[in-house]
Amino acid sequence: MPGCGVSGALAVADEAAARRAGCTLLLCRVDGALSLRNLDSDWLPLSLTFDAGALGWRLAHERVRHERLVKALGGMPTSGATVLDATAGLGRDALVMARAGYRVQMVERSPVLAALLRDALARLGVQQPELAARLSLVEGDALALLDAGDSAAVVYLDPMFPGRSKAAAVKKDLQLLQLLLAHEPESDELALLDAARARARKRVVVKRPAKAPALAGQAPNHSVAGKAVRFDVYLP
Ligand SMILES: C[S@@+](CC[C@H](N)C(=O)[O-])C[C@H]1O[C@@H](n2cnc3c(N)ncnc32)[C@H](O)[C@@H]1O
Repeated sequence: MPGCGVSGALAVADEAAARRAGCTLLLCRVDGALSLRNLDSDWLPLSLTFDAGALGWRLAHERVRHERLVKALGGMPTSGATVLDATAGLGRDALVMARAGYRVQMVERSPVLAALLRDALARLGVQQPELAARLSLVEGDALALLDAGDSAAVVYLDPMFPGRSKAAAVKKDLQLLQLLLAHEPESDELALLDAARARARKRVVVKRPAKAPALAGQAPNHSVAGKAVRFDVYLP
């Protein structure tokens, strides 16, 4: 594939080499953005962006305060309020929090997702330096970081892997995420929640599917519920 190269510590191969090696997923550059392709499908390559994109209308300054996630965090932040987003994933929730004005430290243990996030952050740094300055990324296991003493006013958790469903309703980028993370170990949800509660100075916020039980069976202090998802809030 044209434009393929090497990004950071991750090998980025061309399509022929990836096929010879029997790989299904290929990390390559498309239009300047590090992108993940599924060689077994005609899906568009997945690259990440922090420039609002499809979320733009929700993230306009006057609207972002109405996001349930922002309400669960305690509303619009006072200056310098920090969130440790311990399960950054595609960085979408991190973007909502940063647009609201929070300083967001993302943690992601998948090296491929971390590389995609780093690439998106670098592009954001050129386009919107002020927003980029509120977002940072650590590649690694959040449990280890929390156990080592990392703390924040708020710790945010969204550890649930997308289901293995092939339903059309599962969006293509989530299907790609399912493939990418299929071999990751299940998160130790109780350990992660315990560590988050031990380190968060003000609250822990956990994203759950609307009808799912509380994470690790631990009842929250309150919830901010929506149709599809709910945010469970744990206070100290
Ligand atoms: C459901 S996704 C998060 C989606 C994210 N909230 C967003 O808006 O894009 C869960 C992510 O958490 C990561 N993850 C799970 N356990 C983790 C841990 N202990 N430390 C760091 N990342 C973890 C997974 O690799 C996956 O990328």
